[in-house]
Amino acid sequence: MGDAARAATHAAFVLTLLLLATPARADEVPLTSTPGDARNGRAIVADRTRGLCLLCHSGPIPEERFQGNLAPPLDGAGLRWSAAELRTRLVDGKRLNPDSIMPSYYRTEGLHRVAPAQRGRPILAAQEIEDVIAYLLTLREEAPR
Ligand code: HEC
Repeated sequence: MGDAARAATHAAFVLTLLLLATPARADEVPLTSTPGDARNGRAIVADRTRGLCLLCHSGPIPEERFQGNLAPPLDGAGLRWSAAELRTRLVDGKRLNPDSIMPSYYRTEGLHRVAPAQRGRPILAAQEIEDVIAYLLTLREEAPR
């Protein structure tokens, strides 16, 4: 083996070690094997009794007249965030900002004052989280000013 080939082999070996040593970011992995359905995701976001998103956020959902202004508009979310970043935010945004008022949609541990019927149940099911992520990724225009 020539020096160049040996160097290349060495580089590949070091790279492999680095990759193995980097912990996989958990939120890169979808919660379900069924890909998210953006249409259903939109329905969840628009529905005040399921997603609640529009209590705080606004978004390009013209049929919903009353939208929130406590949080950044969801418009352009697909430009600003990757699927993994959106998953972190939806599953348990308190990991990013412990003081956030945004609910942790897929966390059941460490919650207080949960009604008995809801105990151990996340706000949204795993597939619903993936559907909402698929929808948010389609939002590629900033809010009109
Ligand atoms: C009770 C209020 C509230 C509700 C309900 C809520 N959010 Fe949020 N959300 C926030 C706030 C406030 C922020 C700004 C960051 C922070 O404080 O955590 C935020 C941040 C975000 C972000 C990042 C915003 C950015 O900077 O681009 C996304 C995406 C998001 N929320 C999506 C959702 C979706 C989807 C739902 C419904 C499933 C939802 N939120 C429900 C309050 C809320």
